[in-house]
Amino acid sequence: MKTIKYNTLGVVGNPLRQSLSPTLHNYWLNQNKLNYNYCKFELRSINEIDVVIKKLNLKGLNVTIPYKKEIIKHLHGLDKTAESLQAVNTIKNSNGKLKGYNTDVHGFLSGLNNLGELNKERPVIVLGAGGACEAVIYSLVKRGLNHIFLMNRTIEKAKHLKKKYKQVKVKEWLEKDIIQSAGLIVNCTSLGMVGYPSLPLNLGKVGKDTKIYDIVYNPLETKLIKEAKKYKLKYVTGLPMFLGQAQKSFEIWFGITPKINEYITSKIKGKIKNQ
Ligand code: ATR
Repeated sequence: MKTIKYNTLGVVGNPLRQSLSPTLHNYWLNQNKLNYNYCKFELRSINEIDVVIKKLNLKGLNVTIPYKKEIIKHLHGLDKTAESLQAVNTIKNSNGKLKGYNTDVHGFLSGLNNLGELNKERPVIVLGAGGACEAVIYSLVKRGLNHIFLMNRTIEKAKHLKKKYKQVKVKEWLEKDIIQSAGLIVNCTSLGMVGYPSLPLNLGKVGKDTKIYDIVYNPLETKLIKEAKKYKLKYVTGLPMFLGQAQKSFEIWFGITPKINEYITSKIKGKIKNQ
């Protein structure tokens, strides 16, 4: 196969039908007058990655479910965050040397900023112990939130994750007293996502200043966000995290921080609604 010189970027994962990354990155590429195209590479196996990266000679890639961990053995190096999380969502290709990064932490923290000052005296409740959860715990600790209760339907998975973070204590799934004591509740489960049941959580008894962060962005208004609105709690959806992680990937590839403006935000919102 002929080698094409650096003019392509993309996302690898499976499935990718719903991925909004091409819309976002192609807009930013255009806006910054960069002559690149951002494509989807829906791989049946991560072993096809060698063909995608090396033969197409891509400048960079995003990596999504289910390959964030499996990709690591194909890379030459990792940045500190990706190394610690053992998960990569961004790759930069520098003359054939592939370095892995994790920008989910940056994305999560940009969403967290929308919630303003956080009460460090009260615990953060993290719901879920799947792929997305460790980046969330890592971010919370980085932000100085050291009092974290982790709850997961399958408690063994939470216990396993806890081993790495002394700031985390494992609690029973949706234990009422614990939920009521929360300063911040973060949903990192798939509950509320299109095709999944809602998170069965009533926010009627939490404190008035409890804040809610749902990292789900499809749909934007999950049942959890509706509950937060009902009780006038400050909340953030998964959209700023999605935009923030992409913004950081773009910065890694081009050294340019692309703008998250009203136009692209409403375009992405529209696409989410129509999916
Ligand atoms: P991701 O990479 O998106 O985090 P994942 O690794 O499959 O996906 O994790 C999904 C999370 O949602 C897990 O915490 C999962 O709980 P289990 O570890 O018990 O599977 C949680 N989850 C999914 N469906 C759930 C349900 N019906 N009730 C409670 N938790 C659920």
